[in-house]
Amino acid sequence: MDDPRIPDELPAARRKQPEQPAEQDIDRAFQLAHVARGRARAPYSGFTVGAALLTDNGELFPGCNVENASYGLTLCAERAAIAGWTAATDPGERSEVALVVIVTGADQPTAPCGACRQWLVEFAPDATVMAESAIGERRTWTVRDLLPDPFDGESLGAGAPTSP
Ligand code: THU
Repeated sequence: MDDPRIPDELPAARRKQPEQPAEQDIDRAFQLAHVARGRARAPYSGFTVGAALLTDNGELFPGCNVENASYGLTLCAERAAIAGWTAATDPGERSEVALVVIVTGADQPTAPCGACRQWLVEFAPDATVMAESAIGERRTWTVRDLLPDPFDGESLGAGAPTSP
């Protein structure tokens, strides 16, 4: 019964179960992500992405992808939303991210890229992630599903940061 691969004690930060946000808040987040997607700058790929973060206290923060001629410097919508949330909130009062939503023009809901998963683990470890396709199909994950066994602050021996 005891699976030796699963530690008995997980650090507290890794044990919190994401709570599914209210339907109305999910809709608000998707609406904002659609607006953000309309503002995306994707002249090279033509693949526009909108994102929105919903925090535990009901605040929303948008993001869109911003491409650059040196392609590798492109910023994804999810990381843009995290950066915007960081700039817009006082660290002492920063509420945790409950939900991250992503909208694209793809036929299927698209999961965040690897770089964004790394950011999500650091800034929104207990969040739910929902992606919506061009035809409104949705898919849901947790950040932990998307990046199990992450390299994070605890890996550095520094302990988890007190605030996201
Ligand atoms: N993109 C995002 O905005 N988020 C992701 O998670 C995947 C990719 C953007 C980056 C680039 O501008 C375009 O989509 C094509 O890769």
